[in-house]
Amino acid sequence: VNIRSATSADIPFMLALERDCASAAHWAEEQYRQMFQPDAGVPERFVVVGESQVVQSAEDAISSVVGFLVASNVVGEWELENIVVAPAMRRKGVGKRLLETLLARVRDTNSASVFLEVRESNAAARGFYEAAGFRLTGQRKSYYINPIENALLYRRDLA
Ligand SMILES: CC(C)(COP(=O)(O)OP(=O)(O)OC[C@H]1O[C@@H](n2cnc3c(N)ncnc32)[C@H](O)[C@@H]1OP(=O)(O)O)[C@@H](O)C(=O)NCCC(=O)NCCS
Repeated sequence: VNIRSATSADIPFMLALERDCASAAHWAEEQYRQMFQPDAGVPERFVVVGESQVVQSAEDAISSVVGFLVASNVVGEWELENIVVAPAMRRKGVGKRLLETLLARVRDTNSASVFLEVRESNAAARGFYEAAGFRLTGQRKSYYINPIENALLYRRDLA
């Protein structure tokens, strides 16, 4: 799996992955479009995809997007907004590699930490963030709707 910067051509694939995954954050297509049209009113975005090469024959190789990560930088603080890996590709280190590219970017921008919110019941994501060195810093009661659920706040400090 190759990790690279996303472009607007990846939007349909990112949407397909996200729509297929109940626990991911869900955005409208227009919000994805805006990520690639930065202007003064919009925070700096960091968007990467994981791409897998499927070799069909000697002449024919196609690639498919098997995961993505979206983060934003709001006045010097990075928020991990969404991370999704295709169900068939989980537990192979793709999420970890996507996250490592974000952590490198966070360091490059001289930011000290990354924070995120996650549904309390999302055990897979919580296990993933905890394994990556995020620590629980707080809770927002009944923060999510459909269904109503608490948000847990996690933060990863960079030395
Ligand atoms: C969270 C998610 C992105 C993790 O991606 P992944 O590519 O499967 O994660 P990795 O393979 O890089 O896992 C790295 C480590 O995280 C931990 N981890 C990952 N998935 C886990 C799980 N289901 N339960 C517990 N720990 C887990 C493990 O320590 C794992 O290392 P190991 O496989 O050697 O034990 C993936 O489960 C996913 O797409 N979930 C649905 C979308 C979602 O809920 N996103 C979060 C929105 S806030």
